[in-house]
Amino acid sequence: MIDIDKALIKRHSVRRYLDKPIEEQDLNLLKDYINKVEKESGITFQLVTNEPKAFTGPLAHYGKFESCSNYIIIKGPRGKETDVGYFGEKIVIFAQQIGLNTCWVALTYSRGKLDLKLEKGEKFYLLISIGYGRNRGVPRKTKPMEALCRVNGQMPEWFKNGMDYAMRAPTAMNQQKFLITLNDDGTVSLKSYLAPCHKIDLGIVKYHFELGAKVPVTYK
Ligand SMILES: Cc1cc2nc3c(=O)[nH]c(=O)nc-3n(C[C@H](O)[C@H](O)[C@H](O)COP(=O)(O)O)c2cc1C
Repeated sequence: MIDIDKALIKRHSVRRYLDKPIEEQDLNLLKDYINKVEKESGITFQLVTNEPKAFTGPLAHYGKFESCSNYIIIKGPRGKETDVGYFGEKIVIFAQQIGLNTCWVALTYSRGKLDLKLEKGEKFYLLISIGYGRNRGVPRKTKPMEALCRVNGQMPEWFKNGMDYAMRAPTAMNQQKFLITLNDDGTVSLKSYLAPCHKIDLGIVKYHFELGAKVPVTYK
């Protein structure tokens, strides 16, 4: 198991997977971790394994998905987009730590093929594909740090480290429509701009920022 910082840095979206089931040991670790995150978040992360249909239709093909037979269905109460991003990214980084690759997927799969059962009041959010990658994914472009944050005066080291990790956060279509502000009283404000999945993106960014900052962050 690699450490969490290494996992965060090594993570890139992976869409092509090996035709190989998740090994029992990895599966057990993943299930235990998902249980923990579900209890912490009140969100359901339903792991589906050995089910290739959701990633075989035209949209999956368009999204360049190959041999994807495992995924996580994310559902829960309405209005929890930011938590979905925050807690889902915990699972993404944990998966990377144990040698699995992932991709957040809001669009490029066959929704009709999902075995989706929703309780009353429950909302389906999106999926995370998961498995052993045929490749490790590729580093991609990021907006410059100064376009993604606001700081008056000198940027403290913890904030800079938080930004470094936030810039590595996956966002839908790599849109990075977020702004992180360091307020004069030392608190932090997170904001996202209207775009597809921007609230989910913001939760993902928040988790990355906290991992990078390595100090407790107070939000305003
Ligand atoms: C909320 C969300 C939804 C996404 N939906 C899709 C999708 O439907 N299809 C896809 O191929 N990639 C999807 N992605 C992956 C992004 O394209 C990818 O994270 C982004 O380009 C940055 O690349 P990276 O993850 O390698 O850092 C999604 C990412 C996020 C965070």
